[in-house]
Amino acid sequence: MIRVWQGDITTFDVCAVVNAANRSLLGGGGVDGAIHRAAGPGLLEECRKLGGCETGSAKITGGHDLKARHVIHAVGPVWHGGGQGEAALLASCYRTAMDLAEAAGCRSVAFPAISTGVYGYPSEAAAEVAVDTLSAWLEGREGWEVTLVAFDTRTAEILGKALER
Ligand code: APR
Repeated sequence: MIRVWQGDITTFDVCAVVNAANRSLLGGGGVDGAIHRAAGPGLLEECRKLGGCETGSAKITGGHDLKARHVIHAVGPVWHGGGQGEAALLASCYRTAMDLAEAAGCRSVAFPAISTGVYGYPSEAAAEVAVDTLSAWLEGREGWEVTLVAFDTRTAEILGKALER
């Protein structure tokens, strides 16, 4: 089941929250900054040991001071107009994050709108990639709760429309 919820992902009480990270995995602004602030310094300490992460992939850590048990750090593509494989890289973020959540024994995951902030991916196109990729991944699987978290009303509306298509 996929649902949309508007608010701050750091307050989410789910098994894994997904972070929209950069390749260094050493924190940043946006949701990355919010998650590191809420999780506390232990998160950065654990991330330092991961040796970074490629665009389109993800790595999992503990949740530290967050309610969530895990943080899955996904590195989305920077938008360069759509001709450099951005959609495939974004889809790969969602798929890899779900694979990591499943391997960690999770059945509830919350995603921010990866790449739609600093990385400039158009929200409508990103929402369609997210919904299509997650729907395909969930095909044939039971008991999952996947939440697409919007930080603002416009994103919530866009995600809601993508879910209804
Ligand atoms: N909860 C939920 N969503 C949030 C929160 C929050 N607390 N804060 C921001 N967002 C939303 C933004 O509004 C946007 O829709 O997360 C989405 C992703 O935006 P960014 O955080 O800018 O991430 P992204 O576009 O993937 O860029 C990643 O930004 O912060 C740096 O270190 C990060 O270099 C990386 C880059």
